[in-house]
Amino acid sequence: MIREHKQDELEYLWNYHKDRFPNPVPFWQFRETIEKGKVLISEIQGEWDLIIEGFLISLIDQDEPWIWDIYTKPWHRNRGVGSALLNEIEKHYKGYKRICLYVAPDNPAQKLYFDLGYRVIEVVDHVYETGPALKMVKNLI
Ligand SMILES: CC(C)(COP(=O)(O)OP(=O)(O)OC[C@H]1O[C@@H](n2cnc3c(N)ncnc32)[C@H](O)[C@@H]1OP(=O)(O)O)[C@@H](O)C(=O)NCCC(=O)NCCS
Repeated sequence: MIREHKQDELEYLWNYHKDRFPNPVPFWQFRETIEKGKVLISEIQGEWDLIIEGFLISLIDQDEPWIWDIYTKPWHRNRGVGSALLNEIEKHYKGYKRICLYVAPDNPAQKLYFDLGYRVIEVVDHVYETGPALKMVKNLI
C-alpha cells in the first residue's frame, strides 16, 4: 500500500536519508523539502504491525517535479516497491511536462529508471561531491 507520509515520520525519514549520503543536507533543509514536497511511503502488513518498505521524496524545483530521494529497505528490494513508488508519483504530477532526477553514474538504480522510461539528458557536475551526476527525465505528457 502506498500512502502519504505523516508529520511525525520526519525523524524516521531523516535517519534513513542522512546515513546514505557522505554529505547530507542539514536537517533544516531536509525538513523544509519534506514540508514543501510530496513524500510517499510504501508499507505492508507484517505479522504484528504495518512495516515500511520504502519511501520516495519529491519536490517542485523551478516549476518542475523532481525525485529527490527514493529508497527501499534492503530486505524488501526487487519486489516492485521502487517501481510502484515511481508510478504513483508520476500520476501525482500528471499535467507537468516531465519529471527529473539525478543519479550517480555507478548506481544500478539507473536501470530501474531506464526500464520505466527515464532517459539521460545531461551529465551535471557539482551535484554530488563524489563526482558527476546523470540527469534523467521522463516525459509525463
Ligand atoms: C533503487 C531502489 C529504490 C529500487 O528499489 P526496489 O524496490 O528494489 O525497486 P523494484 O523492485 O521496483 O525494481 C528493481 C530494479 O531496480 C534495479 N536496481 C536498483 N538497484 C539495484 C542493485 N543494487 N542491484 C541490482 N538491481 C538494482 C534493477 O534494475 C531491478 O530491476 P530488475 O530486477 O529488472 O533487474 C533500491 O535499490 C534502493 O533503495 N537503492 C539504494 C538507494 C538508491 O540508490 N536510491 C536511488 C538514488 S538516485
